[in-house]
Amino acid sequence: MIRACVFDAYGTLFDVGAAARIAASEPGAEGWAPRWPELAANWRRKQLEYTWLRAVAGAHADFWQVTQDGLDWALEAAGLADPALRARLLALYWELPAFPEVPAMLTRLADRGQRLAILSNGSMGMLEGAVGSAGLEGMFEALFSVESVGVFKPHASVYDLVEQGMALAPDEVLFVSSNGWDACAGAGHGFVTAWVNRDAAPLDRLWGRPHHILRDLSALPDLVAGP
Ligand code: LAC
Repeated sequence: MIRACVFDAYGTLFDVGAAARIAASEPGAEGWAPRWPELAANWRRKQLEYTWLRAVAGAHADFWQVTQDGLDWALEAAGLADPALRARLLALYWELPAFPEVPAMLTRLADRGQRLAILSNGSMGMLEGAVGSAGLEGMFEALFSVESVGVFKPHASVYDLVEQGMALAPDEVLFVSSNGWDACAGAGHGFVTAWVNRDAAPLDRLWGRPHHILRDLSALPDLVAGP
């Protein structure tokens, strides 16, 4: 029986594309605005690649550092090495909006008696910033950051944080991620897993398979029993 729903943060609850999208809509951005999707995609791709490389090499740096490194690569690739734009994008990343369906979905889960938590690569400061700016304070009983184990997902010690922190067996946890590789790794760890496949991507070929595949988070409460 599912007792807790544990969410990945970036791309799952929080709209990681919003920083570049919002910056592109601001005065002065006209020259590069049409290219914001490519900037956002490169930033995210490099950010994640750097987490995996650092995990494999045992060369950890926190997610805020990796986020800045990924942005610097993406800005240079776009020919946009402008310090003011860099600062603006990082400020926006600290206060990303939640996807529109998130607040009602969390309320429905809480009404069904589910315990709620976040498990993320993000540092605690980043997670607190995003939860606060998205208006989700008080919704989660715990924010689990990889900083407490010093290695990024999908290292097994990251997923262990949930069982240790919530005193639950893995099959009592519904782990929810929009990152296909994270959903596969969570399933491989023993969680019941939902992959939020917002971009209609192919399933990753890894060591676990998500139990549920959703297009967004609205139907998530239907996957857990009512009170
Ligand atoms: C996270 C990244 C993987 O929040 O999106 O952990």
